[in-house]
Amino acid sequence: MSVIVAPSVLSADFANLQRDVEMLNNSEAEWIHIDVMDGVFVPNISFGFPVLQAIRKHTNKFCDVHLMIVQPERYFKQFKDAGADLITIHYEAVVHLDSAIHQIKATGAKAGVALNPATPVSVLKEVIHLLDLVLIMSVNPGFGGQKFIANATNKVREAKALIEASGSSAIIEVDGGVGLGNAGELVAAGAGALVAGNAVFATPNPSETIKQLRQAK
Ligand code: DX5
Ligand code: ZN
Repeated sequence: MSVIVAPSVLSADFANLQRDVEMLNNSEAEWIHIDVMDGVFVPNISFGFPVLQAIRKHTNKFCDVHLMIVQPERYFKQFKDAGADLITIHYEAVVHLDSAIHQIKATGAKAGVALNPATPVSVLKEVIHLLDLVLIMSVNPGFGGQKFIANATNKVREAKALIEASGSSAIIEVDGGVGLGNAGELVAAGAGALVAGNAVFATPNPSETIKQLRQAK
């Protein structure tokens, strides 16, 4: 089975968003990664519901929504209604993680938890069986185009071991600085989905890059 490629629209041209979404529609990308930032949890502000709704209107791809916001529980239903298929929250952004995961699932969306680079995989031990996705951040969240933090590959192996030991069906996604140079090692370590912003949108032929990322092993 080939890895799921989830291009991040954070690196798209927002003035030509429909064009870029059409490009993704015609590509081998299975997911579209949507980065929501609030300027509080991370030092950057991206976009929210109207942009997700606009993307949803133009695509049937699986919308993978990554919330980099504090108190995300306030907005699960709105994100689901705006078009999210999967809602990923940060471990570091919630107090009651078990409850928050159940609240995501109650909307009908799939549920993911993201871990910052300094957060160990072991914090997920008590909730791993509830999760559809574990997101290993391979940069400190906030911006596209940052350098991959190499230890993320070890964390993917640890997450894989935790998932196997618990019988969870969660898949592992990696986000930040992912490209053709490290996709193979991440897939070999157990990644089932790769987010790619700059690596896709800053290349002359984005759909060809998506195709190549999908062949990584
Ligand atoms: C970073 C975001 C990423 C970002 C990845 O905070 O969560 O999804 O768009 O961009 P690249 O692939 O350029 O590192
Ligand atoms: Zn992201």
